Amino acid sequence: MKRFKIISIACFVLLFVWSLKFAPVSNSQSPVKPERKTIPASSDAPSTERVVPTEALAAFDNVTNGFSDQATFQADRGVFEEREGIEDGIGPVYNAQSCAECHQSPITGAGSQITELRAGHFDGATFTEHPGGSLINDRSTNADIQEYIMGGNEVRTFRATTSVLGDGYVEAIDDNTLIAIANAQPGQSGGQIAGQYIMVPMLETGGMRVGRFGWKDQHASLVSFAADAYLNEMGITSPYMPDENTSNGMPVMEYDYVADPEDDGDDLAFFARFMRSTKAPPRDAALAATPNAQAGAAFFNQVGCSICHVTSITTAPVGSALNGGTFIVNKWLGSKIIHPFGDFLLHDVGTGDGIVQNGGFSTRTKLRTAPLWGLRTRPRLMHDGLSTTVSDAIMRHAGEATTVISNYQALEPTQRNQVLIFLRSL
Ligand code: HEC
Ligand code: HEC
Repeated sequence: MKRFKIISIACFVLLFVWSLKFAPVSNSQSPVKPERKTIPASSDAPSTERVVPTEALAAFDNVTNGFSDQATFQADRGVFEEREGIEDGIGPVYNAQSCAECHQSPITGAGSQITELRAGHFDGATFTEHPGGSLINDRSTNADIQEYIMGGNEVRTFRATTSVLGDGYVEAIDDNTLIAIANAQPGQSGGQIAGQYIMVPMLETGGMRVGRFGWKDQHASLVSFAADAYLNEMGITSPYMPDENTSNGMPVMEYDYVADPEDDGDDLAFFARFMRSTKAPPRDAALAATPNAQAGAAFFNQVGCSICHVTSITTAPVGSALNGGTFIVNKWLGSKIIHPFGDFLLHDVGTGDGIVQNGGFSTRTKLRTAPLWGLRTRPRLMHDGLSTTVSDAIMRHAGEATTVISNYQALEPTQRNQVLIFLRSL
């Protein structure tokens, strides 16, 4: 037995040395591409194990939350920051050359002042998208195919860039958690507030899930959002979105020089893994600890802002199989307490931009509650970026938020100022 063991170990060692010798040697000078490996579910606790929830990691520090190792995280971030050119398949119509061109401040993955343009037509009963889709691409690789808003499309809006930091935690929220938040709101607000959740398709599974990403909750998974963004922001097709966009509804094939799909799906996996590995936006700890910020936090809850701007949510338990089993919640994302100051639900607060995306007609005048984490990094606020102070953004709320805003206005000026100091700490 013992001899057999020694022989087999020797065989393994030999095989290993042999494989090293014949391993292909790469002489490419291109930047190190990340490896496409799936996150091992086996190292996670079994799904039955309930762990006591702990705080999610939050920092603007370019360090992984643990979902991938730091070297993989940096390589994935490199792909998210990579500038694509015509030879990579960018365009023919597009908005920018890299994800990080818009998702950038203060670190890669956050937001920026960059907005997008959407348009369509409302005849009083039905909404019709602008020809070629409601997104009007701001750039093109040839002047002949530049998109612009055509006559008869009087519904127009800007959309500010949202942050993706901490979105792995958001993806790991169980559908039922969001549904429970929605169901509790009427009782918390005398029936005035009723967040709407919508079921949206996941491109990688064909299944449906509660939407949570984007101003209209148009996606539920980060792979789906990445495929959507790669096509609609950069004009790069992938297995989940294999067809190029049009220019105002006209085909642009003759301006496209790379065979579709331009990405074989690898980049989508890297984008999703990068986003899942980001830490949540952190508080300004020093400001948050001041008596004024703490008093402001209490008023924020007391007047009812926190009915929509929910302060704490716990992610699904470790081992949960989400997104049709394609996303196993591991210990880095599972049972984590996050403080998004948002409910990821749609509301009519009187600012609705009139655009219908995945949610159908009932969502036309609704928007997702803006998660307020990272608020201090954004000088332009609301979906269109047109509110330029926090006070302006608050006073723009109406509709479902009417009573809460009156409660806020009824505070003493010093108390309102404390709410603003608290918001500045987010
Ligand atoms: C031209 C600017 C721009 C580029 C380039 C861009 N994005 Fe975005 N991103 C946006 C805007 C604007 C939104 C909000 C869109 C909306 O809801 O209407 C957004 C939203 C998102 C969200 C949803 C975040 C949330 O929590 O709501 C994800 C995820 C995302 N982008 C990923 C990507 C990825 C991955 C890439 C690169 C393939 C990318 N984006 C490229 C502007 C951009
Ligand atoms: C009925 C739900 C609801 C209530 C109540 C509510 N909000 Fe909002 N809040 C929203 C929605 C929805 C948006 C996004 C609206 C838009 O973009 O047009 C938003 C956006 C904001 C923004 C802009 C954030 C950004 O990043 O652009 C701030 C600031 C804000 N709310 C603060 C408050 C404060 C303070 C209160 C309490 C006085 C409050 N909200 C009450 C739903 C609500």
